[in-house]
Amino acid sequence: MSLSHTVLAEPRREASTKSSSLRDRLMATRRLSLRLAEPLSDEDQVVQAMDDASPTKWHLAHTTWFFEAFVLPRFMPGYRLFDDSFEYCFNSYYESVGPRHPRPKRGLLTRPSTEAVRAYRAHVDEALEEFMAQGLPAEAEAFIELGINHEQQHQELLLTDILSLFAAGPLKPAYREADPGVSTHTAVPLAFMPFEGGIYEVGHDGNGFAYDNEGPRHEQLIRPFKLANRCVTNAEWIEFIKDGGYETATLWLADGWNTVNGQDWRGPLYFEEAEGGYMQMSLLGYRPVDLGAPVTHVSFFEADAFARWAGYRLPSEFEWEVAAAGHPFEGRDLGADHLRPLPADAGDGLRQMFGDVWEWTASAYLPYPASRPHPAAVGEYNGKFMCNQFVLKGGSCATPQGHMRRTYRNFFYPHQRWQFTGLRLAADA
Ligand code: AVJ
Ligand code: FE
Repeated sequence: MSLSHTVLAEPRREASTKSSSLRDRLMATRRLSLRLAEPLSDEDQVVQAMDDASPTKWHLAHTTWFFEAFVLPRFMPGYRLFDDSFEYCFNSYYESVGPRHPRPKRGLLTRPSTEAVRAYRAHVDEALEEFMAQGLPAEAEAFIELGINHEQQHQELLLTDILSLFAAGPLKPAYREADPGVSTHTAVPLAFMPFEGGIYEVGHDGNGFAYDNEGPRHEQLIRPFKLANRCVTNAEWIEFIKDGGYETATLWLADGWNTVNGQDWRGPLYFEEAEGGYMQMSLLGYRPVDLGAPVTHVSFFEADAFARWAGYRLPSEFEWEVAAAGHPFEGRDLGADHLRPLPADAGDGLRQMFGDVWEWTASAYLPYPASRPHPAAVGEYNGKFMCNQFVLKGGSCATPQGHMRRTYRNFFYPHQRWQFTGLRLAADA
């Protein structure tokens, strides 16, 4: 996000091609959220299966509230809030904005109704369209760009959160019906690509959109390393399970071992041992595990233990970024519409750097040198979470098209595993 580089009051410009394409991207993003909710009943959209997950209705409302919180009242003269009570309901975590409904109780929001939330979206969309028909101050454009990217993050969360709900119920419904899965896919053989050591530039260079946590660009000393050509597969993960990985204390970090035992983990989230193999709940329903596909729904703790068991380690976020240089940031994302990770295709070089699954790194989620969060409420977007979390790179089968970048830093707590999270092995050269 380049908000820190904008001036408070820039003169209004004539409506430019830039802002009309911004408007098109905004409206396409707004429509996609509704399209993602289409297969869901109003009941599906209300319930919250666990503290980390939010109801679909809440995502639809919160992404809308974001434009009321940061754009409309401030930049659009005469804008009328849709409903005064919505800020309390749909502010996620912005202390500087004000008090809010507690996160673990978002599933209790039977009111406002799903219908009312759809009307809220229509109200805000209409205002945004009208507002964007004129030239915008650069700062307003920057907030709208942020609002688009924010909504894309919530589109991914909407999908992983509805999966957590569907996995928790007795009927195991599919978000989308699909042919029964095959478990015989194979991935390209594992190989390691060498990379030279040196002082590399990492972080976003400020051209185009990035979140504030991706900069400033700075130098990093990197020692020679090797990176796996693809992600760890389900077949490889099953070897780890069968070799007693989840019962071998010495493979685990102390906090990981406590979690394994406290939560009684015996495999990835949604994994179940069944006759003749393993099954896993997915957006396509309860299906046989695809052996060649990247393992997903594993925590940092599990990724770290697996790497140790395999005789490797996780890459640092900087090794990953350096390896990804020159690699097109395209992959099987939400636009590819598979709704699940697929096996790496044959071919030379690095596969699956983008798409399929987010890749855990060994890097703690910390600010880059000389980073300065935005002083206003929007400074709470990323910066205040820089404690006890780990960076993930790449992007997943649920990451909206156009949302991924080499410098992107996703982050989650080391025990969390309801996202499409997997791993790629690394080693010292
Ligand atoms: C980067 C995915 C951890 O889930 O809180 C959504 C994304 N930030 N709204 C999160 C986000 C603000 C964020 N993650
Ligand atoms: Fe949010």
